[in-house]
Amino acid sequence: METTLIILKPDALQRGLMGKIITRFEDKGLQIVGAKMMQITPELAATHYESHHGKPFYDGLVRFMTSSPVLVLAIRGIGAIGISRGMMGATFGSKADPGTIRGDFGVSNSFNLIHGSDSPEAAERELGLFFADGGVVDWQRGNEGWIYDCSGATPE
Ligand code: RTP
Ligand code: MG
Repeated sequence: METTLIILKPDALQRGLMGKIITRFEDKGLQIVGAKMMQITPELAATHYESHHGKPFYDGLVRFMTSSPVLVLAIRGIGAIGISRGMMGATFGSKADPGTIRGDFGVSNSFNLIHGSDSPEAAERELGLFFADGGVVDWQRGNEGWIYDCSGATPE
């Protein structure tokens, strides 16, 4: 099982797309194990995006991410990190394939609706940053045995 950090960015909230985006993850069979609305501080944005520091788009990115509240989600499932990245689509809305979140809901390159951790290391780091005070809940779904084939040694 993997847990990934997803952020519904300020444009997703302002455009009223939270429900539609969360529904995609639930419909897929991934489990929401944490959800928190917050306003990202410039300090947190700088830490989160420290690998992009100094790039031409960095200042605009931090301005955007701190401009309005976001919804931070912890999402769990087998392969949840890669599956979520696939569901998000390419970084730029203008390039993202139809069927993906960025491809279906946006056209902008910088207002691209959603963030998702891009590796297990990033997920661990980002979950620690955004859920530092707890809030990831280990809860059991009643329909788990219909989402995964649990008849073998490991769920598939
Ligand atoms: P994210 O981190 O937000 O999930 O997006 P990502 O992995 O698909 O893209 P990444 O390369 O990590 O870039 C982080 C965010 O910076 C903005 N960006 N602008 N103008 C540009 O060339 C450019 N490149 C990246 C995007 O908002 C992207 O989500
Ligand atoms: Mg990234």
